[in-house]
Amino acid sequence: MKRILLMNGPNLNMLGIREPAIYGSDTLASIEEEVVSYGREKGVHVDCFQSNHEGDLIDKLHEAHASYDAVIYNPGAHTHYSYALRDAVASIDVPVVEVHLSDVDAREEFRRISVFDGVVAAKIKGKGRAGYLEALDVLCDR
Ligand code: DQA
Repeated sequence: MKRILLMNGPNLNMLGIREPAIYGSDTLASIEEEVVSYGREKGVHVDCFQSNHEGDLIDKLHEAHASYDAVIYNPGAHTHYSYALRDAVASIDVPVVEVHLSDVDAREEFRRISVFDGVVAAKIKGKGRAGYLEALDVLCDR
């Protein structure tokens, strides 16, 4: 059975409370539950991890190299500046799909830059929680 890591970066633990007009009113726990059960339907095992700490996210990506077949990753604000996380993604031999709930290209200028360009297998943005499910589809179709 395929094993997928669903990873969320800083402030995504605040979903449901955080800027609902932009990110919606769903909690991260409810999104994680949906991805896990969608994975089950597709015969894929999904583990979830969220952290506000760059080093913990880097460690988890390193671990993914040996433990997972693919990663679905919303890097939050790290998207726009963390070369350390970009290097971690580039270091591992598993496909990573970058997901953003909001349409980062239609917001502030600084959100248009993703340091993950060129190292991720695909990027999905602006589709809300459905973007995570689409990422699972993309990975299953590979
Ligand atoms: C986000 C977009 C980022 O710019 C922001 O910093 C986030 C969430 C999204 O899911 O739309 O934390 O990654």
